Amino acid sequence: MISAYQAASQARVDAAMQSLFSAPSPELARLYEAMRYSVMNGGKRVRPLLAYAACEALGGQPEQANGAACAVELIHAYSLVHDDLPAMDDDDLRRGQPTTHKAFDEACAILAGDGLQSLAFSALLDPSLSDASAEIRLRMVTTLAQAAGPAGMVGGQAIDLGSVGLKLDQQALEYMHRHKTGALIEASVILGALASGLAEKDELKSLQTYARAIGLAFQVQDDILDVESDTATLGKRQGADIARDKPTYPALLGLEAAKDYALELRDQALHALRPFDAAAEPLRELARYIVERRS
Ligand code: IPE
Ligand code: IPE
Ligand code: MG
Ligand code: MG
Ligand code: MG
Repeated sequence: MISAYQAASQARVDAAMQSLFSAPSPELARLYEAMRYSVMNGGKRVRPLLAYAACEALGGQPEQANGAACAVELIHAYSLVHDDLPAMDDDDLRRGQPTTHKAFDEACAILAGDGLQSLAFSALLDPSLSDASAEIRLRMVTTLAQAAGPAGMVGGQAIDLGSVGLKLDQQALEYMHRHKTGALIEASVILGALASGLAEKDELKSLQTYARAIGLAFQVQDDILDVESDTATLGKRQGADIARDKPTYPALLGLEAAKDYALELRDQALHALRPFDAAAEPLRELARYIVERRS
């Protein structure tokens, strides 16, 4: 179950993203349609929610984080479009609908992903989406580029695809998960915090510790749901990791130990938020949601 806070944040980021998908000319209508299709299709919006919640935890207004929220969701949507391609996970179903390469075609899906990645950086720099100073915007662009790129998410995806059928040890699996999923989740929190314009160094450090823990917890729970949820609830094919012999936490530790680990990571995240007052309640709620969610 999502809370009223989560629903309001989802509506806020969806409203902010709407305007990004109007084609500048009729020749580009299909490309823009594919980008819109890949984003405006009912994702949980966990990364934008984290950006808003981090901004609020520091005393900012959530609207200040609109650029950050759009940017992290656009990077995420691009990563899913490419992750689903035949050359990668080869999936047909995403968010309960045909994947972008099935609804359009492979070339269009590749280009839609490329386009979404560029739009993400434009969103960070868009003055209508945030009032951040030039210095803060530079820090946000640097943070997002590192998290999304080869030393972050793209690197993690490369390790993931190179590990199919291999037996990774826990250290190697953690390294992969921290990159392919954790890096962008961490960046979501940091971008939201930066967008408030109020982030002090020690606060950023605590938020980084929080984000590292929930970033890993998020992928551990994703692995768990692949085992024990169902396709209708997930909106993507249940059992896809098992079918493809992907290295996952349940495969390595067993289902029960993977669940215990997710809860331990949640507790680490909550512990990191101890210096924060009630304004961090949405971040606390999200830490619980990430390991309790069923889809
Ligand atoms: C799925 O992410 C892919 C991973 C990084 C584990 P989400 O579970 O956030 O997917 P949506 O955005 O809600 O569809
Ligand atoms: C996806 O991980 C991570 C990224 C897209 C960066 P998965 O391959 O586990 O995601 P799902 O399960 O297809 O959503
Ligand atoms: Mg994958
Ligand atoms: Mg996948
Ligand atoms: Mg998965």
